[in-house]
Parts: sequence; structure tokens; C-alpha cells
Amino acid sequence: MTPIYAQRHLLGTRSLTAPEITDLLDRADRYAAVNRSAEKKLAVLAGRTVVNLFYENSTRTRTSFELAAKRLGADVVNMQTGASSVAKGETLIDTAATLNAMHPDVLVVRHQDSGAVSLLSQKVNCAVVNAGDGKHEHPTQALLDALTIRRRKGRLAGLKVAICGDVLHSRVARSNIHLLAAMGAEVRLVAPRTLCIPGAESLGVSVFHDLRAGIADCDIVMMLRIQNERMSGGFIPSTREYFRFFGLDREKLAAAKPDALVMHPGPMNRGVEIDSDIADDVERSVIREQVEMGVAVRMAVLETLTLNLARGGDR
Ligand code: NCD
Repeated sequence: MTPIYAQRHLLGTRSLTAPEITDLLDRADRYAAVNRSAEKKLAVLAGRTVVNLFYENSTRTRTSFELAAKRLGADVVNMQTGASSVAKGETLIDTAATLNAMHPDVLVVRHQDSGAVSLLSQKVNCAVVNAGDGKHEHPTQALLDALTIRRRKGRLAGLKVAICGDVLHSRVARSNIHLLAAMGAEVRLVAPRTLCIPGAESLGVSVFHDLRAGIADCDIVMMLRIQNERMSGGFIPSTREYFRFFGLDREKLAAAKPDALVMHPGPMNRGVEIDSDIADDVERSVIREQVEMGVAVRMAVLETLTLNLARGGDR
């Protein structure tokens, strides 16, 4: 079936429409069933080459892109930038041009600078997937979050979703804000004043600086990691103080709906933004399911982009 999303690259969720998102999630849903079956190998990407180029650390995103590509039958190359010519000073664009000369079909790129993946996408012939650029976007994370929510709640429209914690440094938050808004969910940001996006209200969200008030009556409580590696200077007094006010524990979670689901993109800092008691509570936490849906969503994205390449899609 021809994908509704017809562009060559997937760089963010900002420009995604509801029908495009729904089509990607429907495809991912079918792959989630494949992933739970014994025979997981398909030939959708047979003969295709996927290169993972990660300039930042990653566990979930890199392994799930690799598994997704392999399950679809592609050849996969993982570039470790620490062990490549990047460590010898090669620029991002030179590395991209070098890889491009080997004719990959899809380049999956994570980079510490916001906008770097978009820049790179203009210099190559293959499809490019943004696997996280600085604090800008992480579209496949927002898609896997949406799939997890849709499977549990049956819909996205009309749900109240609180995105809580270090929103300022979070590409996960930004991609989720755009996607959830496109799907008709009500998004709230809950963060200390020092860790909120300035002027966030212009993104169509409501802003809270108190965790209990922010998650009150919410269907989804999405916790974010304190991203120390993106901070220069002190944004919080101490992790103990942060947990007291913004860490999710059972007592604070009681403010949300009784059937509210708890999410976290990982990696978690237990005892900082989330209590282990909640993170490991299978009745409330869907954190493991998010990881599972990550593979399915990445299969759907790789399938969509290679189908678009085949018909010369480049809007
Ligand atoms: C996130 C990321 O790298 O943006 N993790 C992920 O992809 N699962 C969030 C984070 O690092 O806190």
C-alpha cells in the first residue's frame, strides 16, 4: 500500500499531518504483531542498505533501528563515531558525503547539534531519519510514544497528556508536543521554571510549575530525564530537592486519573525524576512497552521511506 507520508526524509514531527501519523502507526501496529511471532524475518527491505550514524550515546534507539532494519531484511552498518574518521576531525558533511558515495538507501543519524541532521539530509541522495538532533526533534520517539498510548487507550484525540521534567533540553518533548497536537490530544508541560521552554504557550500547550497540579486529571504522565549533559551551570539545586518536588512517586501520581499510564523514554534516573516503585509497577508503567513499540515504529518508518525512494518521492 502506498504510504500517505510521501517525503524522502523523516526529520521531525512538526510538519506531520494526522493522516500521515495514523498511517505510520497502523503500519507499526502490524509490525508489532510480527515482532511477537516466532518468525520475525521479512523481505520488505531485502537488497537495501541502512547505515546507523550515531554521534551521541544510545541504547534503545540504535539497537531498535538495527533490529528494525534486520527484521525487514536489510543489510545494516553501524558507524561508531569514536572508532571512525570522525575522531580524526572529519566534518559531519564530509562523513555524510563519504557514506553517500557507498550508496546506502537510508541513513539514520543522531547528532548533538540541533539542525545537524536536516543539514546533512540536504547533502545526500538517500533517505535520512533523524534519530535525535540536540534538543530539537526525535520523531521516531514521538511515534512510538503515540503507538503505545493508542494501543492502551484506543485513541489519542481528547486525551490529557502531561510531559514532565526537563522539558527545556528535551527533543522528546518537542517532537511529542507537535505530534500529540496534530492528533488532537491536550498537552501540558510540567517543569521547574528553569527547565521549561520559554514562551511554550505559543506551541499550544498549557504550562505548570507544580507536578500535582500539572498531572491532575491526566490520562498520560510522561516523565523526562534530567539531561545534565545539555546543561551549562546549575538548573536545579540538587537531585534530592528535584525529586521532592518533581520526582514522580505514588503519592504524587494519585493526582492523575486512576487509570493514568506512566511513560518514560529512557534512560531513567531512578530516584531523580521517577521512583522505582512506579517505574516497575506493571499496572501503571508502560516503559517496557515503549521500547517494544520502538522496533515496530522504526520498521514502519524504514518501510515508508524506502517505498518513497522507489517512487522517487521528494516533495
Ligand atoms: C532520549 C533521547 O536520547 O533523546 N532517549 C531515547 O531516545 N530513548 C531521551 C533522553 O536521552 O533522556
